[in-house]
Amino acid sequence: MSTTFQLDTSTSRANPTPQPMRRLTVPKIRERKQDGVTAEPLVMLTAYTARQAQLLDEHCDLLLVGDSLGQVIYGLPSTIPVTLEMMANHGAAVVRGSYHAVVVIDMPFGSYEGSPQQAFESAALLLKQTGAAAVKLEGGAAMAETVAFLNQRGIPVMGHVGLTPQAVNVLGGYAARGRSDSEADKIVADAKALDQAGAFAIVIEGVIEPIAIEVTKAVACPTIGIGASARCDGQVLVTEDMLGMFERVPRFVKRYEDIAGIIEKTVIRYAGEVRSRDFPGPEQTYQPKD
Ligand code: KIV
Repeated sequence: MSTTFQLDTSTSRANPTPQPMRRLTVPKIRERKQDGVTAEPLVMLTAYTARQAQLLDEHCDLLLVGDSLGQVIYGLPSTIPVTLEMMANHGAAVVRGSYHAVVVIDMPFGSYEGSPQQAFESAALLLKQTGAAAVKLEGGAAMAETVAFLNQRGIPVMGHVGLTPQAVNVLGGYAARGRSDSEADKIVADAKALDQAGAFAIVIEGVIEPIAIEVTKAVACPTIGIGASARCDGQVLVTEDMLGMFERVPRFVKRYEDIAGIIEKTVIRYAGEVRSRDFPGPEQTYQPKD
């Protein structure tokens, strides 16, 4: 279903998006899992621009300004070079384009691992400059102290365990995690540590399904799977992957559309019409008034 977004010109320049609904809140997301049960799974997608946020917002509980933007938008080889400035700029655009979903911003590599204080300064900057409600950071037990530190200072945190792309140089690649007993035990222990530290939700990425299910049962907060299990408390995908912007996608992505194919066909039509001088036609040109 496509959404035609009507800009309300009576709203201020600072808030160009009309607010017909109250925005969901972090506590409302956390409360969706009650005594280990999430009746209605949480829907999360990535968003990096205002227009993308406008189109996704109404249909999602959460919009994630993922550091995957490094690869998807900037063509970088990994998420490692992504900066706080990139996250703040795209985060602000997504908040401007949304009024319903909780907007969560990824903390980029190098902006939070040094100490809880460093994490607070980076997260505070992201929330101040964007108006987003929460941050996401990668890592398990090693990040628990930081999650508690941020939470106690007013910054809700989403955790991220399993395949953590910022650690690609330690993991040695993007293969699914949890195949050995020691890896599986660590993923479960990491998720429990984040849960106890106060994470309001935890992304489980690229983990064999039985371990994703075990983690989901082991933690009180909702889990959000990507390459994990339909039995997680919610799901997330990179929007461009799901829409079919890229030919090559990981096994866990379902390509719901072929947007790359639609774009290519459309550009071929445009180029043909320019070359044949059929574009611009009378409807797209200005003539002197009689
Ligand atoms: O950066 C990102 O988009 C993510 C999701 C894939 C969970 O972390």
